[in-house]
Amino acid sequence: MSITISLSTLVWLAAWAVLALAVAKLYDLLIAAPKRFQQYWTSQGVTGEPYRFPLGVLPDIQRAADSDRIVEYAFGMARKYGLLQWQIVAGICHIISYDPEVCRAIFTNKAQYYHKASQDQKEIMRPLLHNGLLLSEDAYWKRQRALISPGFHFWYLQEMVPIICKCVSDWVQMVQGKIDASPDGSVELEMNHELATITLDSVATAAFGNGFRADPERADRFIHALKQVLDNMQARTLNLLGFIPVIKNLPLPSLRAIQSGCATIEQIVKDIVADRKAGRSGVVKGGKHAGMELMAQRAAETGEALDEESTRRRDLLDLLLEAQANMPEGEVLTDRAVEEESINFIAAGAETTSNLCVWMLWRTITQPPVSEGQSILEKVRRELVATIPKESVTNPSIDELKELKYLEALTYESLRLHPPAPTIPKYAIEDHDITWRGKTVHIPKGTTVLINANVIHRLEEYWPQPEEFRPERFLSGGGNEQNNNVNDSVAPSPAGSDPTTPQPCASPVSPKTAEEIAAERARKAAQPFAYLGFSAGPRKCVGKNFAMLEIKIIFSMILRQLNFELVPNQYIAANPITRLPRQGIKFRVTKRNWMKDDDQLLPSHDGLMDDAVMMDNVGEGMRQRQQHASVSVLKPLGMI
Ligand code: HEM
Repeated sequence: MSITISLSTLVWLAAWAVLALAVAKLYDLLIAAPKRFQQYWTSQGVTGEPYRFPLGVLPDIQRAADSDRIVEYAFGMARKYGLLQWQIVAGICHIISYDPEVCRAIFTNKAQYYHKASQDQKEIMRPLLHNGLLLSEDAYWKRQRALISPGFHFWYLQEMVPIICKCVSDWVQMVQGKIDASPDGSVELEMNHELATITLDSVATAAFGNGFRADPERADRFIHALKQVLDNMQARTLNLLGFIPVIKNLPLPSLRAIQSGCATIEQIVKDIVADRKAGRSGVVKGGKHAGMELMAQRAAETGEALDEESTRRRDLLDLLLEAQANMPEGEVLTDRAVEEESINFIAAGAETTSNLCVWMLWRTITQPPVSEGQSILEKVRRELVATIPKESVTNPSIDELKELKYLEALTYESLRLHPPAPTIPKYAIEDHDITWRGKTVHIPKGTTVLINANVIHRLEEYWPQPEEFRPERFLSGGGNEQNNNVNDSVAPSPAGSDPTTPQPCASPVSPKTAEEIAAERARKAAQPFAYLGFSAGPRKCVGKNFAMLEIKIIFSMILRQLNFELVPNQYIAANPITRLPRQGIKFRVTKRNWMKDDDQLLPSHDGLMDDAVMMDNVGEGMRQRQQHASVSVLKPLGMI
């Protein structure tokens, strides 16, 4: 007996099979997997908000985001379920760490068990970042990181100072021109947008030299395309479109906008690289670079010859092209990889820095006086006037910038309360154990751990009066310059040896039991991991020194030459994902007569200040400067 099945029956059967598979997958995703996940973690003593079909805590997060209470929401969860807990958002299960002790393990002795993020999370950013530093892993990442890192060393960063100064100076001049042309001698500016323009200009110029600035129309297209791509990627993360199987690949407007933006960016970068290779563009300023003297000094010490090539000014593109030309036998750095790394550099460096700058400006302008009637703005300006002479206002030197300790503390404090990247994902690639609060917790392969810096930066046991905005907390303890890479070390440095090492609250009573003593030790060891603005461990921000330098240049120049006043009656709240102000922040900007007004701030301005007040006016930074005046210039730029 033969059975014949018609084609249409076959199609029906196939369709039913696909449907059954889809239903099974959905059942697993939305019902079975969350149940297994909860059971597994409960058995290890880790809890979280019980899963509610089908969206889990998504509605709670949306509500918190809408009312700008996302940090409070996270804090509420931390109080309710502890510093290590699960979270289930629409069937997506992950572990959240609000605990520096857990972070210490993830960033140090267990770092080899983690990748940057899950494939799903990476997929959203892949069209822009491809296999560049931000998304690559393992041996390829290691090699690329080793190639890029020298670009952030002292000699190269020195090169960046005139480049960034020029970008900021051009912006200040443009604003001053607008002020001159206005009837009332002021302009209203949305500073989130303005700072984004400055930081993108700076970072792209640092990457591509005059290849970027030489063609303003092309630079504009690049800026618009990058904004279009980042906005749509963020939207697809928030509305989960980028995560849902099948739907994430549909040619919806958001995906098409990402694809067209990425195509524009890639073409522009390709052209810039081709121009450089053909010798049609160069770095911003030709000639010898500022680190020449140091290199000559070192060459004299070591007896090595100083060849012409190594003394030439470079930007990131030069660095990559040189690496490309000098790859060891059997290894290749393709043009495509050079283009990808350049795009990663810009994507990682522009918005993060402007995001921090806009909140920092808001704090600087609006924060009420902190001590003896002095506002943060006054303190910063006094330090600027005391450190950067009038002739250097538009072109401060790296040595002068290095001395701006109060401004540095202000940056760190702004980064504590407004981290631009507050959620750092880590994805376990192998089963392993960590020790948490004295017990062993098993982390299975495939677990995503989300590290929440917004909560960690406000834990009272590490940050006394955490909600108070107090830059001084980064000045006390001293010795800022000694170990700025403390997060690299497995063994923590003594508290206070680093500006980003929080000063722990003194325990009111000394611990008595063995358990209490162990807990106290663990807490101390975890201290450096209570500050994660630039993250920590092997994948910590490679651009930290560049960012700190850039922020110092921006603030030293704009606060000296311009006055800012917050436009009243604005709704100021942070976007739940990007942490950027949702509707920007508007300031009324006027010219500052710094030639005259600076004199009022000079310590020697007779009749206005006695000695005691003067010392305080310039702030602890001045005291620290005096203490550390003898720091060697050959030290890496951790101190910037
Ligand atoms: C205030 C400004 C900045 C902040 C807050 C910041 C923060 C971060 C954070 C949190 C990470 C993730 C680390 C991890 O996954 O554990 C990161 C990575 C990175 N950042 Fe930054 N960043 C800033 C500025 C910059 C700048 C200016 C550049 C380049 C010029 C840059 C380049 C990078 C790169 C390339 C990575 C990936 C490193 C790797 O995976 O090896 N960042 N940054």
